[in-house]
Amino acid sequence: MKKIAICTTEECQSLGKKEVTIEGQPILIIYSDGKYYAIDSLCPHAKTRLISGRIEDETLTCANHGICFDLSDGAIRLDKIDEDLLEQLDVDNLPFGSLKIYPLTIENGMIMIEI
Ligand code: FES
Repeated sequence: MKKIAICTTEECQSLGKKEVTIEGQPILIIYSDGKYYAIDSLCPHAKTRLISGRIEDETLTCANHGICFDLSDGAIRLDKIDEDLLEQLDVDNLPFGSLKIYPLTIENGMIMIEI
């Protein structure tokens, strides 16, 4: 693993979300409620971009089909998914996994991620 500088904390705070591509990997940096997150920019469900997802209470809900992910560990949050969608999903045999989360640190005002 290596650490890569992404942007300043100021820039991330002003944008809220910033999408970058590091070594071919699209990564989404998020600032919400005083915390920073670095996640895979593509939804594990159908690989659409997560930048337009809704962020609330440390979760991100994909704008495409409404699957919700915990931003702290990438886990799928079944408790936050709309009931109609839950009925359509075979929750015991989901054909996709959790959201990839990247380790993130702040060093001298720079957001650094490990890939
Ligand atoms: S592509 Fe994200 S929930 Fe379907």
